[in-house]
Amino acid sequence: MEDNQISKLIDTAKKEYKLEFNSFPLSKEDYKQFFLFHAYRAMSKRPIQLKYEINNIIKTVLLYFFNDTEFNKYGVVVNNASLAKGILLIGDNGVGKSMLFEILSEMGKELVRCANYGAMSFREISAINFVMEFMKSAKSHREATKAFELSDYYQNAIFIDDLGREEKAFSRHELLGTLLFERHRRQSKTYATTNKTLEELTQRYDEHIGDRIPEMFNIIYWRGDSYRD
Ligand SMILES: Nc1ncnc2c1ncn2[C@@H]1O[C@H](COP(=O)(O)OP(=O)(O)OP(=O)(O)O)[C@@H](O)[C@H]1O
Ligand SMILES: [Mg+2]
Repeated sequence: MEDNQISKLIDTAKKEYKLEFNSFPLSKEDYKQFFLFHAYRAMSKRPIQLKYEINNIIKTVLLYFFNDTEFNKYGVVVNNASLAKGILLIGDNGVGKSMLFEILSEMGKELVRCANYGAMSFREISAINFVMEFMKSAKSHREATKAFELSDYYQNAIFIDDLGREEKAFSRHELLGTLLFERHRRQSKTYATTNKTLEELTQRYDEHIGDRIPEMFNIIYWRGDSYRD
């Protein structure tokens, strides 16, 4: 897409995205503009100003969130594609996995705020912080601080950033393994990014999780050069 086409789309999105909330569900075109607007907003917060590039993976995830049953038309999902499953982005560093969900999360929040439309929103956790918060809370629990309830995270849609990069809680518990297991049991929608391979995830969290991953997620491999270089 040409630069001027993008800025035209963004201009339109800027002007129109507030008005369009009267009509739900959003049309595909409004939805696209709304995404571009939020992508533009996320990019403008970065120290280095790049143009947000759209590839087939991003298009696939957008179609998925748009509830399009044909969302895998580019064939990037490597297992059985289904709207009933979540999404697992497996990929190299700096290709844009976290950023994509950051944009979607902002969109989701805005839809709730402006139109009370919750179908696109999800809670976000970083695997690393999740374990740290859990340990902090467990330590201070003796001082009667509200304990971190793992079970608070078993339901509703959640995005887990950097699965497999966390430490074991107290060097013992695979907290994220438990979380995945319980979420699978409840068929809760889970979105996640990881730098680990499926084999590494299976080795780490055990066969019983490895076995459930294809059932829980549309699996997408995102290979490429880092934008951070
Ligand atoms: N689609 C895109 N077009 C242009 N730049 C992008 C795009 N996506 C991400 N970037 C840039 O690349 C940076 C790294 O992206 P991001 O943090 O999403 O990578 P990641 O895949 O999550 O990497 P890691 O596996 O290391 O967490 C972003 O901060 C942003 O500046
Ligand atoms: Mg990331």
